[in-house]
Amino acid sequence: MKCKDLISIADISLADIEEIFHVTRELKEWHNKGYDEKCLSGKILGMIFEKSSMRTRVSFEAAMVQLGGHAIYLTQSDINLGKREAVKDGARVLSRYVNGLVIRTFGQEMVQELARYATVPVINALSDYLHPCQALTDIYTIKEKFGNLTDVKISYIGDGNNVARSLGQICAKLDIPLYVASPKGYELTQDFVAETKQYAAGNNVIHLSNDPKAVAKDADVLYTDTWVSMGQEAEKESRAQSFKNFQINAELLKLANNDVKVMHCLPAHRGEEITDDVIDGPHSIVYDQAENRLHVEKALLKLLLHK
Ligand code: CP
Ligand code: NVA
Repeated sequence: MKCKDLISIADISLADIEEIFHVTRELKEWHNKGYDEKCLSGKILGMIFEKSSMRTRVSFEAAMVQLGGHAIYLTQSDINLGKREAVKDGARVLSRYVNGLVIRTFGQEMVQELARYATVPVINALSDYLHPCQALTDIYTIKEKFGNLTDVKISYIGDGNNVARSLGQICAKLDIPLYVASPKGYELTQDFVAETKQYAAGNNVIHLSNDPKAVAKDADVLYTDTWVSMGQEAEKESRAQSFKNFQINAELLKLANNDVKVMHCLPAHRGEEITDDVIDGPHSIVYDQAENRLHVEKALLKLLLHK
């Protein structure tokens, strides 16, 4: 990878994505044979988490240990970045202790500021705006399941949020069409869609709709995420009302292709954006998707920290 950080999929090249996928496949195969390359022996990853996390926190920490390194989990109550001290001071000091930083926070600006002043690689582990590690994993998982990415209809039903944005960005980079159905007022913005066209590898674009049934029709992948992202808890009731027809359930599945794969970045809110029978059913690949977070992040850490 040529870049120092992973802040947004928009900043990385098609070659970077292909390299991440190639290394992911290798590391996953070796891991499944019981071997983990100790390429990060003696390296330390600082993990700044200002929001809850299970998959991201555990997969990054497990990844570091499996690659021979170590991770330090830093919550807001430990370092209080941006409040106890300026982000740039935190970035400069932490860079003298650790070999890489992961950050999960609210504003995308904080991720950018940390990366600007850190001399070590910075990985965006989710902001209100983006979730690039998730999108890399999602497309890697789709490729693994389908063998290729051509002629796979990917339909995202739900909020035009961080997960949807990163998915849109990676689809643009890889020239894959993405079909998105969101309630009125919760769509990806036209400005965002226009921006993805500037770095799109081909003519395939993001198609926005307010009709979940039309978007689910003939889908090979049905993807959803929570209706209420971290930080939006006060909007829970109004969102439940707006999103009530955007649930992935057995009825919606009937419109998709017979062997449709159902994806969710997790955590899932059973009975809200997805029903129990669908997430537990034969079309669901959500746990394989979650497992792949580990393998993709190992590849990212190897490529960014093993210099
Ligand atoms: N998908 C995901 O990022 O999960 P966590 O919030 O548990 O890390
Ligand atoms: N959109 C969700 C993703 C959680 C992994 C959130 O930001 O809370």
